[in-house]
Amino acid sequence: MILSPSLLSSDFGRLAEELQALEQAGLTWAHWDVMDGAFVPNITFGPPVIKRLRQTSRLFFDVHLMIEHPERYLADFAEAGADLLVVHVEAAAHLPRTLDEIRRLGMKAGVALNPATPLCSLNYVLDKLDLALIMSVNPGFGGQKFMPLAYDKISELKAKLKAAGSSALIQVDGGVDPTNTPRLLAAGADVLVSGSAFFNFPPYAERLKAFQMEEE
Ligand code: DX5
Ligand code: ZN
Repeated sequence: MILSPSLLSSDFGRLAEELQALEQAGLTWAHWDVMDGAFVPNITFGPPVIKRLRQTSRLFFDVHLMIEHPERYLADFAEAGADLLVVHVEAAAHLPRTLDEIRRLGMKAGVALNPATPLCSLNYVLDKLDLALIMSVNPGFGGQKFMPLAYDKISELKAKLKAAGSSALIQVDGGVDPTNTPRLLAAGADVLVSGSAFFNFPPYAERLKAFQMEEE
């Protein structure tokens, strides 16, 4: 299981220290929630901030784009040092081209689905995916309540990926905490994103253990 802490719930005034603390606590990924005030109501940060923090951290930068027209910014995020770039299917008009371009730029390619978006929207891009993100809240804010519809969606996606011979990872994001972790992992999730249920409970090494304890 990979735990990818969502920096949305971290202290923005101390991002470099937060990243360092994650690394020291044994985390390997960091989840960046990029919001544009259009696809979602909030605005967070963009490539310049990520680029500066890239110089301070060796963590795997998992970048979740909650922005319209993500295709306009792929090169900027590659240059900023994103390792994985996840676009929303609801926001990407030419998904196959966008995913090809993300990989061409040297990043892993991911697609996110809002809670009400059906899995069949991934049908024609399964061979272009390194990761599929199942949203378990409507994106835009941290600290929302987990939507249990994610469990079945994850198991169905797992079967779908297997049938297609895909080794893409399944990520889940929104309201994830140590109590729903066992069922998410049993359903087939590989990468858990956690914001408030992670950062609000330091020390981070102990909190990581709380998520891992629920594993099996
Ligand atoms: C939702 C974001 C999530 C969110 C997770 O818009 O994509 O990454 O920050 O936060 P929690 O874990 O607090 O729901
Ligand atoms: Zn996210």
